Amino acid sequence: MAKYAAFVQAGAAVFPKPKRTGTMGLFTKDIKTMNDLFVHQLQDIYYAEQQLTKALPKMAEKANDPQLKQGFLTHLEETKQHVKRLEEVFKMHGAQVKAVDCPAIDGIIEEADETAGDVADKAVLDAALINAAQAAEHYEIVRYGSLIAWAKQLGRNDCATVLAKTLEEEKATDKKLTSLAESKVNLRAAS
Ligand SMILES: [Fe+2]
Ligand SMILES: [Fe+2]
Repeated sequence: MAKYAAFVQAGAAVFPKPKRTGTMGLFTKDIKTMNDLFVHQLQDIYYAEQQLTKALPKMAEKANDPQLKQGFLTHLEETKQHVKRLEEVFKMHGAQVKAVDCPAIDGIIEEADETAGDVADKAVLDAALINAAQAAEHYEIVRYGSLIAWAKQLGRNDCATVLAKTLEEEKATDKKLTSLAESKVNLRAAS
């Protein structure tokens, strides 16, 4: 028995139990509560929106279809508003206006750049740009969807209302991109 206990002890030393870092292992030490998570995701989407204000003019420049070009420029103006609305939400919530790196949006933008660089045909390039833009929109839709749900849960319906305005614009942009692709861009790309 003593031998077994010694074995278990030795085993424990070799294979230490993984330390629990929090629920589901998702939370870092800085994120303990739903409020922390809400603020962190605000910082994350704040960074993402800022990056998109830099990426959209480049996408507009690359687009060949005039409607697509205009669509990117229109959404650029909306995106500038999204940045301002987030600043408003930070202030309403009494949180510091701050951005944290968001590798997800960096990856989406980087991939869009690479793909655009690889596409030689102008019509096919438009189809690729729409696809890249929709990846960004879907990312934003997911983030805002959760932020709104969490804001309501935290009793911040005021923040949820502001965030919902942005979510509607992301959804509308996504729809416009789909109809642009289906009505002409994909047809032209395939011909
Ligand atoms: Fe946005
Ligand atoms: Fe967007």
